[in-house]
Amino acid sequence: MTDQTITSVSRENRVFRPSAEFQRQANLGSFATYKRLYAESVNAPAKFWARQAKELLTWRRPFKEVLKWKLPHAKWFIGGQLNVAENCLDRHLDTARSNKAAIIFEGEPGDIRTITYKQLHREVCQFANVLTGLGVGKGDRVAIYMPMVPEAAVAMLACARLGAIHTVIFGGFSSEAIKDRVNDCQAKVVITADGGWRRGKIIELKVNVDRALAGTPSVEKVVVLRRTGNATAMTEGRDHWWHDLVTLASPMHKARGFDSENPLFILYTSGSTGKPKGVLHTTAGYLLGSMMTTKYVFDLKETDVYFCTADVGWVTGHSYVVYGPLANGATVFMYEGAPNQPGPDRFWDMIDRHGVTIFYTAPTAIRAFMRWGDDYVKKHSLASLRLLGSVGEPINPEAWMWYHTLIGKKRCPIVDTWWQTETGVIMVTPLPGITPTKPGSCTLPFFGVVPKVLDENGKEVPKGSGGRLFLKQPWPSMLRTLWNDDDRFKKQYWSELPGYYFAGDGARFDKDGYLWVVGRIDDVLNVSGHRIGTAEVESALVSHPSVAEAAVVGRPDELKGQALVVFVTVKSGVTATKELREELRAHVAKEIGALARPDDVRFATALPKTRSGKIMRRILKEIAAGGEVRGDTTTLEDFSVVAALQSQEE
Ligand code: PRX
Repeated sequence: MTDQTITSVSRENRVFRPSAEFQRQANLGSFATYKRLYAESVNAPAKFWARQAKELLTWRRPFKEVLKWKLPHAKWFIGGQLNVAENCLDRHLDTARSNKAAIIFEGEPGDIRTITYKQLHREVCQFANVLTGLGVGKGDRVAIYMPMVPEAAVAMLACARLGAIHTVIFGGFSSEAIKDRVNDCQAKVVITADGGWRRGKIIELKVNVDRALAGTPSVEKVVVLRRTGNATAMTEGRDHWWHDLVTLASPMHKARGFDSENPLFILYTSGSTGKPKGVLHTTAGYLLGSMMTTKYVFDLKETDVYFCTADVGWVTGHSYVVYGPLANGATVFMYEGAPNQPGPDRFWDMIDRHGVTIFYTAPTAIRAFMRWGDDYVKKHSLASLRLLGSVGEPINPEAWMWYHTLIGKKRCPIVDTWWQTETGVIMVTPLPGITPTKPGSCTLPFFGVVPKVLDENGKEVPKGSGGRLFLKQPWPSMLRTLWNDDDRFKKQYWSELPGYYFAGDGARFDKDGYLWVVGRIDDVLNVSGHRIGTAEVESALVSHPSVAEAAVVGRPDELKGQALVVFVTVKSGVTATKELREELRAHVAKEIGALARPDDVRFATALPKTRSGKIMRRILKEIAAGGEVRGDTTTLEDFSVVAALQSQEE
């Protein structure tokens, strides 16, 4: 994407002011308070963050120093010790929250469970003892490949309690993806389930794990939760049922403190080269960031029932299903399955039945709800809702207005939250009741965040012009490095402009200083709010015996944001058939997961390249979008290639 295209985003100018009623009860009080605290957070960050860390977190040993910043490596709250699970559970037990629901769970088949803080604490302690029994200790890596059930949170919190590092692998990823991730971090234990429910079918998680584990020598033990009850093969000596182990484990577990910078989790995300990046987050800074943003961005109250629709396999599920809400002692509503099972009104039905007050979802989901029709929404009252959130990609103003009108009944503020796996927590967002909102803008920075929109020479662009988004100052929940690849960490995020974190997004500030993020500018696509690296899909394609060369680009898609279009040249002697097209789509799904299944496979005799052999993706993008090839083609080696690609458009 060039700066020129970044500029050409919509000029939305509607402004929605918070209601006086919401403002009166807002956690942050007023816009003036936000301004004052924001100024302190960026001008005197050590003072600001020290106060927040002392106020919000429970420490085993106080920290001595707030920040050591040796660019690009940050250490926060040095000398301090704490336990994340204790902050999320134990500290609520001596309060009125002890018997409050921590998790209200609804499975796709309709089964409902309510787990209080006391019960969740007991389950986490028991499971921590199970993991200890399996040889898991501080610093060991544990892979979690589970459905959206409370035990996924139990497993995460049990790892945190032991100072072990979890890596949650989204249940939609394939066995190849599990294998790569497990091998990269050398996980010792895998926690999974016999299956999970999705759209009335069982997702066979354990079968995928078994396939992956044929090539993962580091794994010693597998714990299997019985969720669906389907027949499941167990490998003697390696595999154990969750319920068998837990029955034998004590519910007592004394948590110990870990250093502020002890690794908490690794979460793999797509980058612009083939191999997923293991984003590393640590203990105190991450917990503080997730707790504080949950409190202020969602204006969390003791009486809220908070529903974030993200899977725990994504960072949103880490920060806003598990750590942020539980550290605040909130009631989290957790749902296992598809939003349209048994009907397209499943969410609205659940919101009414459970009295959900805060609802946080993704624009791609909102666009699907719009497509399914207003009648499904109108059947339900949604009277309990008081706040809505959006995350994962830019929200188009039409979707924003629909969300505001149909779901929020014009009464609920919408927080459009911009952030990334790497930032750990929400970075740019309205504060509800405080910040006037504009449909499609994530508005203003959260505390401690200094966003900059810069041009190719590192100069600030004038307001209203597009550029690349950077963050200027370190923040507590920032990624510390990429697992096993500090060089890539430096190169990817810190080399674009010395001293600045490069987000990989294009953005602009409007005249009011509101931020508008328009999307990725690197070779990363955002499909249904999930990041997919084009190189990852390309390397999956060329691993197929029929494929010589592949190039992957995004095409604007009404529902998914971007759709995956792949251009493939086949090896000599191979015929490009319809069957091969389907085979390649299935092949990518097998290699990466269904979310990366190409929407469109196009065969080509050659790909457009520069004279130096670089594939000209810009041209492919234009062809994929069905438009004319407009830009400069003088660097193209052979224009007939483009003509050939255009002539075979369907
Ligand atoms: O391009 C931005 C987009 O999602 C990317 C981060 O993806 P991921 O690490 O998977 O995390 C998603 C959940 C935090 C960003 O670089 N993005 C996320 N939220 C927004 C957004 N783009 C515009 N507006 C948002 N609110």
